[in-house]
Amino acid sequence: MTTVVMTGATSGIGRVAAEHMLRMPDVQLWLGARGVPPPGAHALPLDLARLASVRAFAQTVSERLGETPIDALVLNAATQFPNDTERTEDGFETTFAVNHLAHYLLLRLLLPRLAEAATVLITTSDTHDPALNPIAPPDHADAERLAHPVREAGVRSRPFRDGFRAYSASKLCNLLTARALGLSKAAEAKRLSVIAYNPGFTLGTGLQRRAPLGIRLLTRTLRPIVVPLFRINKPAQAGQMLADLALGRIAPPPGRLYASLVKRRFTWPRTSDLAQRDEIMSRLWSDSARMVGLTAPANDEERQST
Ligand SMILES: NC(=O)c1ccc[n+]([C@@H]2O[C@H](COP(=O)([O-])OP(=O)(O)OC[C@H]3O[C@@H](n4cnc5c(N)ncnc54)[C@H](OP(=O)(O)O)[C@@H]3O)[C@@H](O)[C@H]2O)c1
Repeated sequence: MTTVVMTGATSGIGRVAAEHMLRMPDVQLWLGARGVPPPGAHALPLDLARLASVRAFAQTVSERLGETPIDALVLNAATQFPNDTERTEDGFETTFAVNHLAHYLLLRLLLPRLAEAATVLITTSDTHDPALNPIAPPDHADAERLAHPVREAGVRSRPFRDGFRAYSASKLCNLLTARALGLSKAAEAKRLSVIAYNPGFTLGTGLQRRAPLGIRLLTRTLRPIVVPLFRINKPAQAGQMLADLALGRIAPPPGRLYASLVKRRFTWPRTSDLAQRDEIMSRLWSDSARMVGLTAPANDEERQST
């Protein structure tokens, strides 16, 4: 029996992946969710916008699993806002808190529960890469600045762009977290398979649900034309790939961790230069630990053994 723990399975790419896994007789799927999960899954309440909810979910799923280790941890949920002005009850910018911080905490809490040779998959996005995102690319992964964005005096807020930048920066954090985990002693000791998955631009999911009505209507109207014309991914393809990666049907080649499905073509490309920077990665890991109330490892050596 393969035990999978997953976030973000109530809609879009994650829901397709979950339904795919649920059709397999030898998979038991544990979902953390706010909404209605696919039938057949073990669903437990989880609101990633509340760190208390993340802790409660980690504890409950651990209790319910008992001695059974987790074979695949899939951190797929995400949100996107038109701005960066939303705050969680913990006081953090919501996109950063939901997409990165909550998943970082969940990863740290469930790390001891992972099976030998388990897979950890974190869903990222190629919007993390300034070379591929000319609209609002991230220019840093400084946790403090992302958690508490400050607008400089005289600089006006730019609806859509501010929100999109918060999103792309959170996806950079997802990728850096995957890299940091992949390099850790914990990953080496347990022979973890760590994957940062970019499902690529995929129309027909719920990610744009907070976009202005005009954009949503335009997207819906144009979807039947642009999807085949530009070979844009469909949730069915992106979700199937997510399931295949999570279940180890597709394994990373040696030294690779970034899996990407763009225009229906699957590759293991290089990440952006920003995502390769070890000092940014280490700092994000230790700053995130401090923010979620875990002991911030004092130095790299200690982080490697986290
Ligand atoms: N679609 C794309 O073009 C694209 C491209 C690159 C990367 N991605 C990534 O792919 C992943 C899936 O996105 P999608 O396009 O399938 O979007 P989606 O349909 O909106 O799915 C997002 C999932 O995250 C969950 N979620 C959001 N906020 C949550 C919270 N506070 N607590 C618990 N769950 C929460 C949602 O649950 P609720 O139903 O409760 O809201 C939903 O299950 C994301 O990581 C996204 O960044 C998407």
